[in-house]
Amino acid sequence: MPNQPIETERLILREVLTTDVEGMFELDSNPEVHKYLGNKPITKKEQAVKGIEFLQQQYKERGTARWAVVHKETNEFMGWSGIKYITEGEQMNGVYNVYELGYRFMPKFWGKGYATEAAQAWVDYAFNEMKIKSFYAAADVPNKGSVNVLQKVGFKITGEFLFEFEDIKEQCYWLEQHR
Ligand SMILES: CC(C)(COP(=O)(O)OP(=O)(O)OC[C@H]1O[C@@H](n2cnc3c(N)ncnc32)[C@H](O)[C@@H]1OP(=O)(O)O)[C@@H](O)C(=O)NCCC(=O)NCCS
Repeated sequence: MPNQPIETERLILREVLTTDVEGMFELDSNPEVHKYLGNKPITKKEQAVKGIEFLQQQYKERGTARWAVVHKETNEFMGWSGIKYITEGEQMNGVYNVYELGYRFMPKFWGKGYATEAAQAWVDYAFNEMKIKSFYAAADVPNKGSVNVLQKVGFKITGEFLFEFEDIKEQCYWLEQHR
């Protein structure tokens, strides 16, 4: 993961900071955002604090994790996007010890190409700077917006699997790209 923020045409990607707690709470307490994420929006700021702590732990231990996406012109916190290193306990589709792309934006920033712009920056970073050979992603089958973003930045659907976590069960696509 880079030490410095990444700039794209309209966005700044940087590590999630403790001071992002209001933005993270607004994002993750929104039921619309969680429609394809198990329908369990958070209800307490403390949960957003814990989420940020987990990300910061991943920066240290895995060298990579989701980053905040900030609007370059307005400096607004828009959501997050980034590369997660998937450990054995977090495996999806039976796959682990791999890099996975994920993102989550507030609805006011949907439909403007921001998710695609950030995802493209991470695909470029993964293959050109981290020099990984394989990059993976997963999305709920009905989450057309997300599948669309992944396909636009080069991922191909290679399978389907049932994602199971606590009482959540969701049919997902598995996507990958290789260099
Ligand atoms: C998934 C998610 C990020 C998709 O966001 P999105 O708004 O559909 O994605 P984008 O804005 O990048 O692109 C979608 C559309 O924006 C429009 N768009 C693209 N570039 C644009 C630009 N430069 N200017 C204006 N509009 C643009 C297009 O209509 C594009 O769709 P198309 O390529 O089919 O025409 C968003 O729905 C989200 O955060 N959901 C909640 C969390 C979630 O589900 N995360 C994924 C879990 S797998």
